Formats: sequence, structure tokens, C-alpha cells
Amino acid sequence: MFVSVILGIESTCDETGVALVRGTTLLGQGLATSMGEFERYGGIIPEIASRAHLESFLPVLDAALHEADLDLSDVTAIACAAGPGLVGSLTVGICAAKALATSLGLPLYGVNHVIGHLAVDALAEGALPQPCIGLVASGGHSNLLLINNIATDIVELGGTLDDAAGEAFDKVGRLLGLPYPGGPHVDRMAQSGTPDAIRFPRGLAAAKDKDRYRYDFSFSGLKTAVSRYLAANPLPDDETARKQAVADICRAFSESVNDSLSAKAVAAARDNNCDTIVVGGGFAANSRLRELLVERAEAAGVSVRFPPLRLCTDNGAQIAAIGAALVEAGVAPSPLAFGPDTAMPL
Ligand code: KG4
Ligand code: ZN
Repeated sequence: MFVSVILGIESTCDETGVALVRGTTLLGQGLATSMGEFERYGGIIPEIASRAHLESFLPVLDAALHEADLDLSDVTAIACAAGPGLVGSLTVGICAAKALATSLGLPLYGVNHVIGHLAVDALAEGALPQPCIGLVASGGHSNLLLINNIATDIVELGGTLDDAAGEAFDKVGRLLGLPYPGGPHVDRMAQSGTPDAIRFPRGLAAAKDKDRYRYDFSFSGLKTAVSRYLAANPLPDDETARKQAVADICRAFSESVNDSLSAKAVAAARDNNCDTIVVGGGFAANSRLRELLVERAEAAGVSVRFPPLRLCTDNGAQIAAIGAALVEAGVAPSPLAFGPDTAMPL
């Protein structure tokens, strides 16, 4: 039934990813990351990331073809991330995709990276039940989507008004002196924090027009609350006491973020009569999100799908997966003139 072999190219930020997909089968993939370069800067340097894409692209392409045991003549369509992301990083992937599509005479799809975070779940658990609710949470995005059809009909229900969930974790990690990126460290520390030792506010809980923000998130006030708490309660010098104080802050912070994400995702599923929530993005690795969302969704009779961890962070398979969905839906390829769209809307 699925004869198309889609080559997907990801280069929105610091991961260079290439993957080959047929229908909902991942045939092979290659991945490189320049994240290791950024620990000492405490953040991504776009120029370094773009250069790394340039160096990694061909080896990553070779790795994907090798794993799939295919060569370029087997590919029937190409998809690349056209946004949102860093302009230099996107440009490298788009130029590579255009060069391949032009030289091989193949259709090319410039796709939305964020949608890819949800489309990729089909490669792990089969086609998404539609309609379903999509929760994308990563370092760059936090969105709730109503997915009527992953290729043709997605409605944005809400998103973050300021920081993304992963970004908030990274910023709080920095405030607490944890290594970059802080997300996984804050998550780990939170697990040994004392429950309810501290309570931080929930974003938008005090908003005047709460209905308007029913599916929106806000995490920057929470980050400020953590920084005020630290100013009023400096971390102790004693190593053990300090560790416990950091763990308690991480726990309360993580609870606030995940309370908002899970409550709003379940509300979106209920309001829209969806019996499935699919979660994507690097933040989908968060242990508390997995616990709390599953618990609340189950109580509401809703099931939750999380892609495997290696498909949660940026990768080529998410781009190939959305490309495969577009081809299957009969959507026309992109005109070759498209360029990077750093703030591409959903
Ligand atoms: O999807 P991704 O690889 O890149 C973006 O598109 O942003 O997500 C990376 C983000 C980072 O902010 C990282 O700190 C966060 O996901 N992250 C986590 C965890 N693992 C990764 N945040 C909280 N808990 C985790 N376990
Ligand atoms: Zn991403």
C-alpha cells in the first residue's frame, strides 16, 4: 500500500537528522548533534550550530541510507524542516534538500518541525487516531493542538505566552547552578525533592479572563517566583543541605509546570471529545509529566501516547513522518522557492 520512500531532513536547531520512512515504518536514520559545544556557553550559538550542520549533513545522510540498506535512487520524495528554528541552521537543511530534490528530480516538501514532533509517534505506535489532542513540549515550543488530520487539518488550541516548558526548566537549572541544558537535571533532582515542601504559583491561574487562556501556558512568572524564592532563601553552604534545598525547589517547580501541562491537555481532550492525547518534543521525556498526565488522562478515560525517548528530541524521522503523511494525503509538494521561516506558524 505504501510505496513511497520519504527522506526527511531536520536542521532547525542543533540536531542534524536524516531518516527514511515508508508509510509508518522507520527504515533507517542518522543523527548528529552540536549540543556538546554549547555547555560552556550555557546556550546555543547559532553560527556554531549552522557550521556543524554543514559538516554533519553528508555523514548523517550516509548513516541513514546505510541503516535502511537503501540508496538515493530508492527515495521517492524529500521533506525538510522549513521552520520554525534558527535561520542559519534551517538554511543548511533546506539547501541540502533542494540540491537533492533537484538533482534526483523528486518532489520536495518544506514542513513544520513542530507538527513533526507529533507525526513521529505514528512510527512507533501506528497511525494516530484522529481526531486527537497533540501536546508539543520542548525547548522551543509548548502547544496544544486539535489534530483532525495530521497532514491537512490542525487547529491550534493554545500555546505558551512566554517561555516554552523546556526553556523554563533550562532557565531554572541555570538559576540553581545545574549544567546546561538544565531540563533533565531539574527533572532528576525533582525526584528526590520533598513533596509540598514549597508551592510555586501556576501560570495564568490568576489571569482575569481565564476562559480566554483555557489552553494557554505561561511559565515566565514561575521562573521569577523561583528566583525570588532563592533571593529570600539562599542555598545553604553545607553540601547535603544544599542538595536537598535544590531538590525541593526543583520538585515544586516541576509540579507547577506539569500541573498546567497535564490539566490543560486533559481539558482539551474532554472539550473536543478526543480519546487520545499524543505528546511530543524533548520535554516529553520528563518523568513527572509522564506520571501526572497518564494519571489524569486515565481518570478522564483518555489514553496517552508518548513516542520513545529517542524520537522525542529533534530528529530526521519526525520530518520524514510528516512528509509521508503529506504524500499519503495527496498534498502538492512545496514550490521550490520556499525559504526558512524562523517563526513558521502551525
Ligand atoms: O525537542 P528538543 O530536543 O529541542 C527543541 O526543539 O527545543 O527539546 C529540548 C528541550 C530542552 O529544553 C531540554 O532541557 C528539555 O527538552 N528536556 C527536558 C527533559 N529532557 C529534555 N526537560 C525536562 N525534563 C526532562 N527529562
Ligand atoms: Zn523540536
